[in-house]
Amino acid sequence: MSQPSLPPSLLALLGLLKDGQYHSGAVIGEKIGVSRTAVWKHLKRLSDLGLPVVSIKGKGYCLEGGIELLSSSDIGAQLNDDVKKAVTDIDVFMQVGSTNDIAMARAFEGSGYLCLAEHQKSGRGRRGREWVSPFGHNIYMSLIWEFDGGVSCLEGLSLAVGVCVVDALQDIGLKELSLKWPNDILLDGKKLGGVLLEISGDPMGTCQVVVGIGLNVRMDDKHSIGKISQPWSSISQQLGHVSRNTLVARFTNRLIPMLSNFHINGFSEYKDRWNAFDAYKNMRVQVLSGDNLIDGEDLGVDDSGALLLLQEGGVKRIYGGEVSLRVSHAS
Ligand code: BTN
Repeated sequence: MSQPSLPPSLLALLGLLKDGQYHSGAVIGEKIGVSRTAVWKHLKRLSDLGLPVVSIKGKGYCLEGGIELLSSSDIGAQLNDDVKKAVTDIDVFMQVGSTNDIAMARAFEGSGYLCLAEHQKSGRGRRGREWVSPFGHNIYMSLIWEFDGGVSCLEGLSLAVGVCVVDALQDIGLKELSLKWPNDILLDGKKLGGVLLEISGDPMGTCQVVVGIGLNVRMDDKHSIGKISQPWSSISQQLGHVSRNTLVARFTNRLIPMLSNFHINGFSEYKDRWNAFDAYKNMRVQVLSGDNLIDGEDLGVDDSGALLLLQEGGVKRIYGGEVSLRVSHAS
């Protein structure tokens, strides 16, 4: 499959500006081997990708705050030894449609392929939504894992992924993290990230799961205006600069052991941890399933990852799929 990427001279420009320092137009042109007019066009292209290019007369151009590009070698170097053995390949693309699609195309290779991109042109969220994926600001990653027991043994897997992500985020000092059923990651009650699992193979036998994770690291308002309808947050709002390469490695260090052992005890091992992070525990919520609104009190999740809703007639179990949950404002 051919991968859409950025032209080499644009990559060279990024490589030059990533230090966050000012570089004159003449020096840029010389170093990347293009004319002054082409330099200007390239800088405009970086701005169009959402990167904060600043120019000052007499000083030149800079990428405000610099940028740490994703690097498969940096990530690989931060993986635990046992995890390193399980990761078969790490690809970093400048630009793709969706990392889940790239990973899915390699699902037949089995467990361990990790795909990352600086920018997704058609990032996908749950329920057919777009996942806004500006260049170089966030994490868009997809990891392939193969299971032998068919889709029935995957119950609760996406919730377990959410637990791995919040555990890794807590390790780096992030506070006020929570999970919104089934697998939204919240920071200060606002959406920080999400998980999208896609499955290929035999639903009754050997199947491959693409574990897609999107996480806002340095997103700002200009990326979201008119595109994201719900309140969102970003790691940088609480912690300032955080290395995306380190984050990806930490997620992978948590995910691989979980994925390797999931066939043994399934979600039950992660249930208590998920419930400890439940953003709406004991609150009245509404679950939208198709056209139906289901009301109840959020009692957390069971061993299969189903949401337990306390209703007048008893406890109702809500299973995943195309559902969404919100706080009920009815008294
Ligand atoms: C959600 O709606 O909460 C799930 C969002 C999942 C987004 C990630 S980004 C990496 C991977 N590629 C995609 O196109 N989607 C997932």
